[in-house]
Amino acid sequence: MRKKLIAANWKMYKTPSEALNFVEAFLPLVAGHTRDEIALFPSITSLPTVIHRVRGSNVAAGAQSMHWADEGAYTGHTSATMLTAVGATHVLIGHSENRQYDNETDERINLKVKSALSHGLIPLLCVGEQKDERQCGKTEDVLVSQLAGALAGFPKEHADRLVIAYEPVWAIGTGLTATPETAEETHLMIRTHLEKHLGDVANEMRILYGGSVKPDNASALLNQPNIDGALVGGASLKPDSFAAIVKY
Ligand code: 13P
Repeated sequence: MRKKLIAANWKMYKTPSEALNFVEAFLPLVAGHTRDEIALFPSITSLPTVIHRVRGSNVAAGAQSMHWADEGAYTGHTSATMLTAVGATHVLIGHSENRQYDNETDERINLKVKSALSHGLIPLLCVGEQKDERQCGKTEDVLVSQLAGALAGFPKEHADRLVIAYEPVWAIGTGLTATPETAEETHLMIRTHLEKHLGDVANEMRILYGGSVKPDNASALLNQPNIDGALVGGASLKPDSFAAIVKY
């Protein structure tokens, strides 16, 4: 069975002391919770603080983005080598906000996924369609194209470590959630596509849902057979709210 992964994407929120306050309050709320994996994605300035505090607990920590090169003249960026050096285990790649604001292309995402895997990080590859793309029936085309771009020349032997996060752009930060049925149907389509290209390993790969996941809709979403976890934005900023989602 696929162990679910419940992940908190804090985006550009929380200073190191705010992040530390969260972790202090959150760890007791999920102590002993082994049914699911839990991961926090703080901003880069809070990442070492969070990693230090969760060490030895049932909570992992990762970065919200990374560069594909190991080092170089890339002002403002962070490499997989640097992330693993501070103890990060996971990394988000291709979030729709990076695709929208930071010129994140499928080609760059592809290089980043490969770099993350080769350094032993667990990448959470984000894909998702815009509202108008869903409305005119292009969801499958968009997702297949994003997956094909991101996974071109992908090393199949690492496939079981790759996590896909399906985040419909129209559901991010809007309070609109894909219904459990729509999300399940889309996850199944993604898995079928992965199976076609990567083989049976697709059944071991986790596909998370993201987009306005809240304590009151988490259970209906996470009980769908092909939804293997959640990537939570706004509702992950408060310890009790994120703990309630973890314990859906
Ligand atoms: P919200 O949960 O705030 O909609 O954000 C989802 C998201 O973008 C997680 O990566």
